[in-house]
Amino acid sequence: METIWVLGATGKGGRAIAAELIGTRADVVLVGRDRDRLATAAASLGGQNRTVLAPGPSELATLIAAEKPTVVVNTIGPFGETTAPLARACVTAGSHYVDLANELPPVQAVLNMDADARSAGVTLVTGAGFGVLATEALVIELAGGRPSASRATVAAMPVVDGLGSAVLSSVIDAVAFGGRRYRDGQLLRTRLGADHAWIPLPDLPAIQALAVPTGELEAAHRASGAGDVVALSSEVPSGRLARAALPVMSALLAVRPIRAGVQRLVERARLTPPAKSGDTSWAYARLEWPDGTHREAWLRTGEGYGFTAKVAAHTVARLSDGQGRPGAFTPGALFGADLARDAGAQIIAPGTVTS
Ligand SMILES: NC(=O)c1ccc[n+]([C@@H]2O[C@H](COP(=O)([O-])OP(=O)(O)OC[C@H]3O[C@@H](n4cnc5c(N)ncnc54)[C@H](OP(=O)(O)O)[C@@H]3O)[C@@H](O)[C@H]2O)c1
Repeated sequence: METIWVLGATGKGGRAIAAELIGTRADVVLVGRDRDRLATAAASLGGQNRTVLAPGPSELATLIAAEKPTVVVNTIGPFGETTAPLARACVTAGSHYVDLANELPPVQAVLNMDADARSAGVTLVTGAGFGVLATEALVIELAGGRPSASRATVAAMPVVDGLGSAVLSSVIDAVAFGGRRYRDGQLLRTRLGADHAWIPLPDLPAIQALAVPTGELEAAHRASGAGDVVALSSEVPSGRLARAALPVMSALLAVRPIRAGVQRLVERARLTPPAKSGDTSWAYARLEWPDGTHREAWLRTGEGYGFTAKVAAHTVARLSDGQGRPGAFTPGALFGADLARDAGAQIIAPGTVTS
């Protein structure tokens, strides 16, 4: 029987993914660092599950090497601390690895393990949630059968029914990292808050979004072949005041002791960021080609964590069934845009427009 470990099983994302997996034929193991929280999570999830207690990423890496689960699902954010040691432990153990990272550096760190994963015959999938897949699926859909685009714009606009405190920690890391975009094929540093846009929605008012350094930027660059790429999100405040404050906050948080202090405070007080609630999450992509044509597409789905849990669970199921291939991937690069449809998304892609 396949053994699936869910790391961070006491968190919002971990519990949602475990709920999707429990009841399938897999042996689901809930992994957490706090005995009481883990017992509460296991009881609330019900069904057949086992629990494993491990205080942190280095102990987890040792346990993975010893137990060699079939698939490890890493939901422990911020991922800058966890993807590299845990994905490496999976490569060594011969376990497949799936995470929910959407911060640019950890997504790139996993993708850079491609050669090691191929040699070991394991599959690493990073960004197996609304971020990265929602915008990546659109770019794959728009790019299909056409030459490389010259320019790609993607935007993620999820709604959620609440957020875990690790999300705030991930946002703090992203703000400290500062802005990034691709220009002429090069990943360039930009002033955080400088790029913002109103994203059109079908038959609905546009939503304001801000360029942020997400894994979606890398996935859109790879899937479109475009040299100029920008990735925006509605999750970060993008009003005039926020845009003016962001570069200052970025400079402050880039100072390691300040960032560490803020992260400790967030973790101790279990602070959570404000959530954008609603019924419909959206993603958007626009590709432009050197011949002057462009195409736009939208992805529509429900609440963000629900979609994320389904994306991760479908990814796990496919890897368990041997449908993966060795290497390191974003989810759409491995399983295509249909992974998003299988997870409950609708893709709206009108035809090519000549501008
Ligand atoms: N890609 C996507 O679409 C997507 C969607 C949702 C979330 N996310 C990301 O996924 C991450 C988790 O989000 P969430 O909402 O589930 O957060 P959460 O509710 O705060 O859960 C975080 C989990 O990680 C555990 N954890 C934190 N630090 C740990 C450490 N040092 N060692 C071991 N375990 C540790 C927590 O354990 P305790 O309970 O013991 O504190 C908890 O189980 C965030 O980075 C978030 O940004 C991504």
